Amino acid sequence: MALFSNIIISPKPFVLSCSYQNTHLSKTPQNTKQDAIFKIKGPATLSGHITISGSKNSSLALIAATLCCSGSSLLHNVPNISDIQAMASILCSLGAKVESFDGKMMVNSDGVGKIEVDLEEMRKIRGGFFVIGPLVARFGEAVVALPGGCNIGKRPVDLHLRGLRALGAVVELRDGKVCAHTANGKGLVGGRFRLDYPSVGATETLMMAASMADGITLLSNVAKEPEVVDLARFLNDSGASIEGAGSDTLVIRGKSQLYGSECVIRPDRIEAGTFMIAAAITRSCISMSPVIPSRVSCLIDKLSEAGCKISQVDQHTLRVSAVPELYPGDDLKSFGIKTSPFPGFPTDLQPQIMALLTTCTGSSLVEESVFDNRMSHARELQKLGARIQVNGNSAIVFGKDKGSSLCGSRVIARDLRGGASLILAGLAAKGTTEIHKIEHIERGYENIVTKLQNLGADIERSTLPSLSSLV
Ligand code: EPZ
Repeated sequence: MALFSNIIISPKPFVLSCSYQNTHLSKTPQNTKQDAIFKIKGPATLSGHITISGSKNSSLALIAATLCCSGSSLLHNVPNISDIQAMASILCSLGAKVESFDGKMMVNSDGVGKIEVDLEEMRKIRGGFFVIGPLVARFGEAVVALPGGCNIGKRPVDLHLRGLRALGAVVELRDGKVCAHTANGKGLVGGRFRLDYPSVGATETLMMAASMADGITLLSNVAKEPEVVDLARFLNDSGASIEGAGSDTLVIRGKSQLYGSECVIRPDRIEAGTFMIAAAITRSCISMSPVIPSRVSCLIDKLSEAGCKISQVDQHTLRVSAVPELYPGDDLKSFGIKTSPFPGFPTDLQPQIMALLTTCTGSSLVEESVFDNRMSHARELQKLGARIQVNGNSAIVFGKDKGSSLCGSRVIARDLRGGASLILAGLAAKGTTEIHKIEHIERGYENIVTKLQNLGADIERSTLPSLSSLV
């Protein structure tokens, strides 16, 4: 099978026998609550090659989209992380049959009998909200707990709800739940909707909903993220008619039925970006694959601006070198970033870049424009000796010649990407760094300890008496 090919399987292949079987997901560490930590001895020098896993955010959207499809869908290259497990269990709680094995996930949602996703399930993963579109579109109604905010911002879902109303849904908020059903009692109806902000989630919800609406839908000012393109590709291979994915306008001709298809999840651009920054912050040279260079082009530009040497070894392999070439002092220079929707600089790499900038020469301005509260990692980086001045959603990061000097200490991961930035800082810091609340990190990075160990990092995962003694 070509690296990223899609094959249509006949609509009625076979029915799976069990509700939810995971033969490979169960290996994810269960008891990460409070007593597991990462211990890193630095400074590290990395070398070698790593394999990038399938995209977490594409997987979450595609798993939700299997609810639109009759028959079975088979997803390949699904990462073994707790967010995926949580999403699979949401589908099971609705009555879908899910089986995962060897990085594959087979989903059959013909048996869905429940249209309510309860708060408990939703608490595990915000992405669970994405099921609202497919449930209303295919089953006519949905009751989904409001996801609420998280450590990186308020994260409202108003665009999802207003968009569904524009497609003929009646949407009410009752007791902290979103209750939606088709106004005509038959199905959603094609319409026009302009998103006030190119939200990834709202674009994905409305794309799934409109794929099964009666008539044509025009969505404008939509998100252009690669995960949106991956979702459109999967839906089109399942019989939908979506044009314009990757641009700011989508034209969707609704179909009464979609059929299960087979799809290979694209590599995770944020995981790839995190490892590219790992090479830079440790002044090392590593290669990685598979990577789709166009999906990390913004980062490639920024790291090159700093002085890294980035080369494309082959179509899907990148090499990143930050090894000082000329003389020991020849080092990475500071640079500024402002996060924005794709193809702008990804907000999911902002914390990792902040860690890197503390080791560069000069000072840098980091501006966060996507989320309203994504600076909490700065406080933890300061515990490691970073000099950072936060002012609302921007921060001045002072480099190693301006007072930052990373030294190992105890820190807390407060969210997924913030946690990743602490691993990177720990790799560059002198001494031992202990990262607590690693369940945040294990939500989105598959086998991160093993991958870093294979690159020569001195990192281990160990358990400790509960955290409360720390804060
Ligand atoms: C997706 O979140 C990703 N999550 C996030 O990755 C990523 O940071 C984000 O897109 C931006 O790229 C998944 O795909 C599961 P948004 P999503 O809707 O869809 C506002 C990670 O680390 N907004 O594009 O929730 C919102 O408040 C995660 O992997 C509204 O105002 O992001 C935010 O400020 C973190 N109303 C902005 O849009 C809405 O109805 C961007 O949010 C929806 C969003």
